[in-house]
Amino acid sequence: MLRIKEIVIVLLILISASILMGCTDIGTIDKLEAQKEVGADGKELYDHITIDNDYQNWSYWPGKGEFEPAREPHGEFVTTYVSNTSISSIENKDGNMSAGSIIVKNNYDDNKELVAITAMYKVDGYDPEHNDWFWVKYLPDGTIEAEGKIEDCNGCHGMKKSNDYIFTGILTQGIPEPVTGTPNATQTPTSTPTPEPTPRPEPTNISIWIENNGFKPYGNVEINMGDTVVWWNREKFKNPRDIISEDGLWDEPVHLNFMRTFNYTFNETGTYYFSLMYNEVGSRQEITVI
Ligand code: HEC
Repeated sequence: MLRIKEIVIVLLILISASILMGCTDIGTIDKLEAQKEVGADGKELYDHITIDNDYQNWSYWPGKGEFEPAREPHGEFVTTYVSNTSISSIENKDGNMSAGSIIVKNNYDDNKELVAITAMYKVDGYDPEHNDWFWVKYLPDGTIEAEGKIEDCNGCHGMKKSNDYIFTGILTQGIPEPVTGTPNATQTPTSTPTPEPTPRPEPTNISIWIENNGFKPYGNVEINMGDTVVWWNREKFKNPRDIISEDGLWDEPVHLNFMRTFNYTFNETGTYYFSLMYNEVGSRQEITVI
């Protein structure tokens, strides 16, 4: 009797031990997953932003486009890409990028040839003295030219310490409002009749947002010949959108990732219709060019 009891106890101990060990295993796996979050390491970061989650599909810095004119030492033109964590930080307007934010910048020469990729990655506790930024500079093929707490990067970007070491946008301002062109229609005509034809108004940029499954402003937008419309994907759920030109200004729907813009200059008068793929009826927009 006693023997059986002992055996049962030993078995129970063995079973619970194996259950516990099982749990430890699961715990280890969880930890490994979490560590996949990428350490302060140039190679790891490169794999992450090229293989796991290609940065060239990320949003541009909100309000910025491709090939923005740059300053030394970043070449002639730059395209700045931001990870989703970075976008949320910018949206929060608290003046700080949260841990995990990655900003990647393509640096181009005057022929728009890629000459370097520079990145900053915020790693919790990595370098508290410099807001925890890990810096890295890659050559176009991914070779690491410098990485870590790079004095040069920290030094110059330190000018913007109050803006979390960032030059490109003011963090407390959040995501900029759309810039619409100056309304030309308000120009009052002169009372004295002029023999020459009135000069055409200066071309302007008209910004149209895509958000909540539609265009904003909604309905009809009147613009002048020569104006450029800038469509900007601002969907809350950060989903891509495809703009259809019902009049065939372009053949295939224009695919816009979140925060990306698309420009079209209207050089002929007329009325044009646009809609969003998957919502062709509900999102219809009319643009009248006068
Ligand atoms: C002499 C000043 C200077 C140095 C040194 C410098 N940067 Fe920059 N950096 C800038 C400026 C100015 C911008 C804004 C965009 C532009 O004009 O190129 C910028 C922008 C950036 C951005 C986009 C986010 C932002 O702050 O606007 C990244 C990423 C970046 N730099 C990485 C680096 C890395 C990595 C290094 C070091 C290898 C470095 N930078 C060294 C001046 C500098």
